[in-house]
Amino acid sequence: MLSDKALAAIEQEKAKYPPERAQSAVMAALRIAQDELGWLSTDTMDYVAELLGMQPIQVYEVATFYHHYELKPIGRHRIDVCGSVSCWLCGSDRILDYFREKLGIEVGETTPDGRFTLREVECLGSCVGAPMMQIGNVYHENLTPAKIDEILDGLK
Ligand code: FES
Repeated sequence: MLSDKALAAIEQEKAKYPPERAQSAVMAALRIAQDELGWLSTDTMDYVAELLGMQPIQVYEVATFYHHYELKPIGRHRIDVCGSVSCWLCGSDRILDYFREKLGIEVGETTPDGRFTLREVECLGSCVGAPMMQIGNVYHENLTPAKIDEILDGLK
C-alpha cells in the first residue's frame, strides 16, 4: 500500500518515541501516507493503525479532527484561499469569485480533470500578504487575477 520510502519515513517518525509510545507518530504517519497517496482511505488509516499498533478508531479520530487530512480524493493541486478577516478586507471574496469563474467550480469542489480543488480556509498566518492562498507547501501573497493566472499556468 505504501512505498518502501514512505514506510521508512514512518519508521523514522516512530523512532523518535519510546516503543510503547509509537502512537505518538500518528499525525506524521498520516501526513506521510497522504503525501504519497493523495488522500486517506479507510484502508490506509487501518494500515497506519497496524503500523503503529493502534486501534483503527484511534487513527480515525485523529484524521477526522484535523482539517489537514483528506478523507476523500481531491485534485492534484489543493488551492486554499484564506477567507479570514485581513484577507477578506483585502478582497478574498473577489479572489474566490475569480477562481470560481476561471475553474468553473465552487468552493469545496474539484475540477473535472482532477487538477484543482478549491477551498476557503481560516487565517494561514500570513496576513501581511493579504489576500493570500496556499497551494501545496507554497504561500502566494498579494493576489490579483493576473497573478493567479501566472501561478496556475506554472503548475503541472
Ligand atoms: Fe489571511 Fe491571516 S487573514 S493570512
